[in-house]
Amino acid sequence: MAAPIESPHTALVLGGNSDIAHAALARLAVDGLCRVVLAVRDPDALQARLARSPLPIDEVTVEAWDALDAAAHRPLVERAAETLGGIDLVLCAVGSLGHGAGIGARGQTVADLIAANFSGPAAALTEVAHHLVRRGYGTIVVISSIAGVRARRSNYIYGSAKAGLDAFAQGLGDAVAGDGVRVHVVRPGFVTSKMTAGLAPAPFATDTATVAECIAGVVRCGSSRIIHVPAPLGPLFGLLRAMPRPVWRRIAGDR
Ligand SMILES: NC(=O)c1ccc[n+]([C@@H]2O[C@H](COP(=O)([O-])OP(=O)(O)OC[C@H]3O[C@@H](n4cnc5c(N)ncnc54)[C@H](OP(=O)(O)O)[C@@H]3O)[C@@H](O)[C@H]2O)c1
Repeated sequence: MAAPIESPHTALVLGGNSDIAHAALARLAVDGLCRVVLAVRDPDALQARLARSPLPIDEVTVEAWDALDAAAHRPLVERAAETLGGIDLVLCAVGSLGHGAGIGARGQTVADLIAANFSGPAAALTEVAHHLVRRGYGTIVVISSIAGVRARRSNYIYGSAKAGLDAFAQGLGDAVAGDGVRVHVVRPGFVTSKMTAGLAPAPFATDTATVAECIAGVVRCGSSRIIHVPAPLGPLFGLLRAMPRPVWRRIAGDR
């Protein structure tokens, strides 16, 4: 097992208005995180949120950024690197559940959901990886989802996009393993956040503080990891993946 690494002092957050991201930043501040760039599609909404609930971080910079705008990723990374004086940690918290988007969705909705959950973040993480490899140091945390481990008929668009991002992050982690860069994949189950507002909690539901604690733990690891939150979801989904499809459809299809 690789030795633990120093806690990050600077961070770029893709999807900087995420509830999970804010909980993670507050937790990482305890370990010394002190400068962050939050990349968001609606800076005014984020500023209003920060006025209500300030982050316990010395310097917070907000950047306008949309995951769907492929031309925006490289300039964002360059500006963030300059603002932060080098990026120690990148947290990818972009995501759009599309509440129950399945067979009723039209093509444009599918394209937008896949772009927000997979192709957009993957393109941005590529620019991030170039920066970190040049620097010879850094950590990327990609928030994937247990929904990507086995698709359900009720949200297979989100699930399949998360599966793509999850595989991308694993491959990226292997590609940069010799360059001082780690790529951790975090797979939460149901988390109470604005993404899941109004939905009935699934079994093993958890909260943003629990995910934050797991993120703070994994960033100290010296090599790329995959973690499940809570941890029992890992072995459980190892079994559920092998379950016959008619049984899976019956027990999980409408969740
Ligand atoms: N909550 C759960 O049950 C759960 C479970 C497993 C994994 N996850 C993953 O955890 C991550 C954080 O989710 P969360 O629970 O913290 O929900 P959240 O608060 O809704 O965070 C998701 C963030 O993604 C941003 N976003 C969506 N589309 C975007 C785009 N095109 N460009 C830029 N930003 C965009 C949203 O921006 P706005 O604020 O402007 O809407 C939002 O801030 C996501 O990747 C999600 O898929 C969540």
